[in-house]
Amino acid sequence: MADDGSRLWLKYDLIKDQKQKLSYQKYTKFISISANHPTLQKTAEELQMGFAGLLGTKTNIVSNNSQAGGVVLEVSTNQALTNDLANDGFAIFAQKGNLVISSKSEAGVLYGAFELLRRIQTGQSLNENIVSSPKIKIRMLNHWDNANGTVERGYAGSSIWKWNELPFRIDPRYIAYARANASLGINATSINNVNASSRFLTAEYLEKIKAVADVLRPYGIKVFISVNFRSPRTLGGLKTSDPLDPEVRKWWNEKTKEIHQYIPDFGGYLVKANSEGEPGPQDYGRTHADGANMLAEAMKPFSGIVIWRAFVYNADPNGDRFKEAYEQFKPLDGKFDEKVIVQVKNGPIDFMPREPFHPMFGNFPNTKLGIEFQITQEYLGQSTHLTYLAPMFKECLDTDTYSKGKGSTVAKVIDGSLYNNPNSLIAGVANTGSDANWCGHPFNQANWYAFGRLAWDYTLSSEKIANEWIGMTLTNDEKAKIQINEIMQKSLPTYISYTYPLGLHHMMGEGHHYGPEPWLTKAARPDWTSIYYHKADSVGLGFDRTGKLSNAIKLYSKEINETWGNPEKCDLNYLLWFHHIAWNKKLSTGNTLWEELCYRYYNGVVEVQKLQKDWLKLQPYIDTETFASVNARLKTQEKESIWWRDACVLYFKDFSKMPIPNSLTPPN
Ligand code: GCU
Repeated sequence: MADDGSRLWLKYDLIKDQKQKLSYQKYTKFISISANHPTLQKTAEELQMGFAGLLGTKTNIVSNNSQAGGVVLEVSTNQALTNDLANDGFAIFAQKGNLVISSKSEAGVLYGAFELLRRIQTGQSLNENIVSSPKIKIRMLNHWDNANGTVERGYAGSSIWKWNELPFRIDPRYIAYARANASLGINATSINNVNASSRFLTAEYLEKIKAVADVLRPYGIKVFISVNFRSPRTLGGLKTSDPLDPEVRKWWNEKTKEIHQYIPDFGGYLVKANSEGEPGPQDYGRTHADGANMLAEAMKPFSGIVIWRAFVYNADPNGDRFKEAYEQFKPLDGKFDEKVIVQVKNGPIDFMPREPFHPMFGNFPNTKLGIEFQITQEYLGQSTHLTYLAPMFKECLDTDTYSKGKGSTVAKVIDGSLYNNPNSLIAGVANTGSDANWCGHPFNQANWYAFGRLAWDYTLSSEKIANEWIGMTLTNDEKAKIQINEIMQKSLPTYISYTYPLGLHHMMGEGHHYGPEPWLTKAARPDWTSIYYHKADSVGLGFDRTGKLSNAIKLYSKEINETWGNPEKCDLNYLLWFHHIAWNKKLSTGNTLWEELCYRYYNGVVEVQKLQKDWLKLQPYIDTETFASVNARLKTQEKESIWWRDACVLYFKDFSKMPIPNSLTPPN
């Protein structure tokens, strides 16, 4: 059987195991809703569709049922089980022969229904009570989609938003998109590129965005717009966009009011300012806080917020980009309005395959910080290499900043618990596109899935998330699930091994950001070259961030300085992020740096070959289209892993002046 992947993880194929099916059919006599609310209606329809597909039952939707044998959807503040829940949380429990899904909010009931469907899809029992609350309040996708239908750093076709057809034609994919996000608890989306066109604020586009917002609303998803800071000039005809200018402030106040006429529950603005050529308050001698607070003021009468990105740096070839966002924002800690969240990338440079966490986390006690991950795989093999990202997301979230003593993980900064931030935010740059399977590589769907699941609960393990996704998307065969899960867990370390081992970073080709270009010496910006980052010379390799070139390590806590700051103790995965290591220096593995580097590059290729072989064994369990697609992509991946290996090893060999070792020994 072939499957084009368009149904994502919401396949709802008939369960073959009769006993299992029977156990779920206990609750399929009816679906009862207590109030006439669009979200409850969508919830009931989703369950109806799920039951029809998975269990082969025709289940009616009724209101206020008093019999037994069905699912009861209720919004309630009185249940003992829902008392401690967050607003979007839910409880699922058996009561008087029914299965009750209860929450304080309609969206919570919807999330509970998806949890129930997930349990049925993955063959779990419904005998236990389930209680679940999201750990982070705003769980958001950031689309880098342009008005002309292209997607910046998108590798799955063109934009899912058909601006030329909107507002009149609603592509059925908008609904599929809303369902997929709601199934994970994603409750916000910014629909356009952070390199934003002012067009999105015109009446013409607001009408189109309204049509999208109307589709997403019943699924609990709020729409945000990325804005161009120069809009008062380009759209409003003003002479300036200075955030302290009264006319400019008035323009934003009025524009914000106008947006709310179209979208009354507008989520808010997302802003990339004074970054990579985008306009911003610094163009007028003002600060990021001045700019953000002006927009926050415009948002005051409404529930929306302002998300201001911290992705800024100064193209200074003698500086260290690692520190620049921190240094620009540090004097502003405590100066941002209540409504502003500063959105910080997971690492200090730019979504590299492995980055140490951004030093802003834990160091801005008076600023609401949100985190931004990249789901789209700009530096991670795009749509060709198999890389499952949950371990990367988790590695960052689980790292201890020590900012308030042991246990002050990045996750606790983000979820608001460490510095009491009620507006917690996690955002992921979306990997969706017009491809039939939405995400390009069939396994890239797992990264959208994993992002959403971790946004809800970052304590879930990468293995559990992968297991759920495999069960819903590929196969429920237990043995095959274990093997696929192993492939997924090995995929990221394998990719890093043949691209950026030992903490190397930013050596990709200019522009496309895909293949290797460690020899890049001249780029559009002086801090975009590869040599700026790897600093290979006759002595060794790596960026010394411990004092001589830069003291970026000092932005971290004392505890981190004791480990990452010390080349003897530094986790080898981060070594060259912080140290310039001599080629012949013996590492903890027993290999010299040069030997270890060669070992990792060569072994990365071997690991890809193993992934290929492991995938071949899975053919009986996977639909023909997905099987062939992954198989072919793995062949390209193998070819390109050799490309990366040879490009990097041969380039660095000119500096190390050492031969490639004959026998490459694995680490101790
Ligand atoms: C990266 C990416 C850009 C993007 C930028 C951002 O640098 O290559 O395409 O605009 O990140 O996050 O703003």
